[in-house]
Amino acid sequence: MSSNPCSLTLGIAGFGTVGSGLVRILTENREEILSRTGRDIRVKSILVRDATRQRACPLPDGARLTTRMDDLIEDADIDVVVELMGGVDLPAKLVERALNAGKHVVTANKALLAETGNRLFALAAEKNLHLAYEASVCGGIPIIQTLREGLAANRLQSLVGILNGTSNYILSEMSTKGLAFDQALKQAQELGYAEADPTLDIEGFDAAHKLALLIRLAWGVEYPYAQLPVRGISQVQPADIVYAREFGYRIKLLGHARLIGDSLKNGGIEAGVRPTLVHETLLLARVGGAYNAVRVEGDAIGSVFLHGRGAGDMPTGSAVAADVLAIARNSRPNNTGFVRPALPGPAKIVPPLEAHSHFYIRLTVTDVPGVLRDVAAIMAENGISIAQVIQKDRVSGAPTLAYGDQKGPSVPFIVMTHEASAAGVHKALETLAGSAMLHESPVCYPVLAKRS
Ligand code: NAP
Ligand code: HSE
Repeated sequence: MSSNPCSLTLGIAGFGTVGSGLVRILTENREEILSRTGRDIRVKSILVRDATRQRACPLPDGARLTTRMDDLIEDADIDVVVELMGGVDLPAKLVERALNAGKHVVTANKALLAETGNRLFALAAEKNLHLAYEASVCGGIPIIQTLREGLAANRLQSLVGILNGTSNYILSEMSTKGLAFDQALKQAQELGYAEADPTLDIEGFDAAHKLALLIRLAWGVEYPYAQLPVRGISQVQPADIVYAREFGYRIKLLGHARLIGDSLKNGGIEAGVRPTLVHETLLLARVGGAYNAVRVEGDAIGSVFLHGRGAGDMPTGSAVAADVLAIARNSRPNNTGFVRPALPGPAKIVPPLEAHSHFYIRLTVTDVPGVLRDVAAIMAENGISIAQVIQKDRVSGAPTLAYGDQKGPSVPFIVMTHEASAAGVHKALETLAGSAMLHESPVCYPVLAKRS
C-alpha cells in the first residue's frame, strides 16, 4: 500500500497505444482527477519488453521503465496493477500474481477475460479486490458500468452492437471512399486501432471476446467464447457493400445476444458475431470509422443506445482511468455485477440455426429463362418468402455458362427475404449450391431490418 493514504500508486504493464493514452490522461488531467477523487494518482513502474525504445509520450514524474514483472508485483508501494500488454498467458500470470499479492487490477484485455475470466474473477472475489475492465469492451464507451450499474434493475432482453473499431473502420472506408480492404486495414493499424494480431479484428474474434463479457454482465451466465458462432469481415466483397446500399442498408460487423423465452430459466441465449445488413434508418447504420455503439433493451428502460470511440489511445485510456478512479474512491468491488451467484453458471445456448431473421442472399446465376422461377421454388420449398429482388444487368465479358440445355452470361441475382428461419435459409442455400444453377458459392448475411 502507498505510505501516503492520499495517494494511489500504479504499476502499469504495457506502454504502447493504451498505456501511453492512460499516462497522458493521468498527467494532463491530474488536477481534475485530484479534485474528483481527493487522491493523488501516481505511476511508479511501467513494464515493457524493451526499455530502451523511444516512447510516444514522456514518462510521468517519478516513474521508471522496467522489463521485470517482479518490479510491479513485489513492490509494496504499488496499490493497483494496470494490465495493458495484450495476449493471454503472460497477462493471466501477471493478474493472478497481482491479486495474490493483494493488489487491485485494471485491464483492457478482453481476450484474457473471455478466455480465463471466471478463474480470475473467482480469485478477485476471494480477495475482495477489484478486477476492473471498462476499457475491454467498446474503448471509451462506459458500457460495462452501464450494464453493471445503470441498468442493474432491468431484466435485459437483448443487446446488439458494433464492438470492433478496426472492422467498422475498414467497412466504412471501403463503403464511403472505395478503399481496398488491405489498405483500410493498414490505416487502422497505423492509427493504433488493431490488435497486435489483426486476425482477431477482421475474423470477428475480438468482437466475440467482447460479446462474451457483455453476456456475462447482462445475464450473469457464461456463454463460452469458443462456442459463439463467429464470422468476420474478411470475406465481405465490395459488390455486397454496393448492393446493400441499393436496398437501403449498410454492412456492419455486429455482435448480438438475445434472451429467447421469458426468462433464463425457461429460455436460452441466442448470440453471435457476423456481418449484418443494417437498415440505413437505424442509428447503428450511421456509426462510422472506429466508433462503436451498443443498443441494449431492458424491460424497464426500453432501449438505450451508447455510442463513442471504440479504439485508440485516448478513448481507451479514458476508460482505464475511470476504473482507476473508482478504485481511488474506495468503491466496493463489483466485478461481475452479480452477488448470488457471484460467478456465472453456463448459459443455455440457443443453436444458431434456430434463429429467425431477414436475410440478404447474393447468387451468381446463368441469365436464361426459368432460373428465377427455379430459385424462387427452392426458396418456397424451404419456407422463405422473398421481399425484394434485384437482378443486375449483364456485364460485358461475363463468362457464358450453361443451365440445362441453355447458355447465358452469369449475372448477380440478389434476394432480400422476409423473416425466415436460419435453418430454412441454410437448407435452401445448400440445395442451390448443389444445383447447376449457381456458378459461385452463394453469399448470405442476416439483416437488421427497420423495425427489428
Ligand atoms: P500495444 O500498443 O502493442 O502495446 C503493448 C505494450 O505491452 C507495449 O508497451 C509492450 O512493450 C508491452 N508488452 C507486450 N508484451 C510484453 C511482454 N511480454 N513483457 C513486457 N511488456 C510487454 O498494445 P495496445 O494497443 O496498447 O493494447 C494493449 C491491450 O489493450 C490489449 O489487450 C488490447 O486488446 C487492449 N485494447 C486496445 C485498444 C486499442 O485501441 N489499441 C482498445 C481497447 C483495448 P514494448 O513497448 O517494449 O514492445
Ligand atoms: N482492436 C480493437 C478494436 C481495439 O479495433 O476494436 C479496441 O478493443
